[in-house]
Amino acid sequence: MPNTLNRQIILKKRPRGLPRPDNFGYREMALPALKDGQILLRNLYLSLDPAIRGWMDEGEESYQPPIPLDHVMRAVTVAEVVESQNAAYAPGDFIMGLNGWEDYSISTGTGFVNKIPADNKLPLSIYLSVLGTTGLTAYFGLLDVGKPKSGETVLISAAAGAVGSVVGQIARINGCRTVGIAGGAEKCRQLVELFGFDEAIDYKSTADLEREINLKCPKGIDVYFDNVGGAMLEAALNCLKDGARIVMCGAISTYNATEPVPGPSNLWQLLVHNARLEGFIVSKYASRFPEGVSQLAQWLLDGSLQHREHVVPGLKNAPDAFLKLFNGENTGKLIIQMD
Ligand SMILES: NC(=O)c1ccc[n+]([C@@H]2O[C@H](COP(=O)([O-])OP(=O)(O)OC[C@H]3O[C@@H](n4cnc5c(N)ncnc54)[C@H](OP(=O)(O)O)[C@@H]3O)[C@@H](O)[C@H]2O)c1
Repeated sequence: MPNTLNRQIILKKRPRGLPRPDNFGYREMALPALKDGQILLRNLYLSLDPAIRGWMDEGEESYQPPIPLDHVMRAVTVAEVVESQNAAYAPGDFIMGLNGWEDYSISTGTGFVNKIPADNKLPLSIYLSVLGTTGLTAYFGLLDVGKPKSGETVLISAAAGAVGSVVGQIARINGCRTVGIAGGAEKCRQLVELFGFDEAIDYKSTADLEREINLKCPKGIDVYFDNVGGAMLEAALNCLKDGARIVMCGAISTYNATEPVPGPSNLWQLLVHNARLEGFIVSKYASRFPEGVSQLAQWLLDGSLQHREHVVPGLKNAPDAFLKLFNGENTGKLIIQMD
């Protein structure tokens, strides 16, 4: 599309601690002509994920390389193919894949790109939330790594968030007792009344989280689905039942740390309880995504799965909106709706 300007949010300066406005830059670039094999995508929705914070750093080994300085910020997007030099894609196709904080992205159509079914009738943003990597993280993390059994107690941190709220509901569907930890009375009310958790713990209003966990999980924890790490992981480690499984999904309490984060002082509780702690990245399950999407869609359609999206309009609002993930202001899967 000659003469079309592409608005981009770029990484201007690496953050130290919580990102600030001056870590991001804004520019407008002319779109280059497509090369053989490439597709031009018009981004419709951007997914703001905690993992992006790690990609802004340099150094520590991760499953994605750091975003280079002065390059466009990276995100999973839902996009429409507007031009194609690739026989596998035609204008009018919709995809979900790893692109950027920009109006248009150019892709080779390989790697992390998934076509959205042509007969899709669901709102497209759902492919970034419950039918995207968020829902799939909850599905495979809980069922494959956590292996919950009916009657067991599943504790979830950041439970009112995008991944956590889906984990709790899948645990309930599988006959488990579900206890969620979230920040604030309103999120805790939502956990019980909207997402059907058995119990909720407001970590912001308790001085003794371990005591609260023991009160709400009197027989101990069978599965701890950890999105937070740090002190919350330490508290949960002291409340394990024999044979417990800890699913290490994320450690958001540490993502903005400016000094090395001390490890839990009580990891030996794993030994005491013959317990297992296992991390995972959802992309490990890429070949099984169709299975996950099909099951999650069925639960959505039969009403057993509720979900919330927190949609912020406007590309230029992405840097501010991103911070909501770290101060708890997001109420559901955080998504930018492009202008
Ligand atoms: N392993 C994987 O493949 C994979 C894939 C996707 C996501 N993840 C991880 O899953 C976790 C949740 O991601 P999400 O996209 O669903 O985000 P989210 O839960 O929708 O949003 C993040 C939430 O984390 C909570 N939080 C932030 N800082 C905290 C702190 N210092 N202590 C306690 N809670 C804090 C806040 O909720 P409160 O208001 O309750 O504090 C915030 O709303 C993240 O750790 C992410 O990295 C992992």
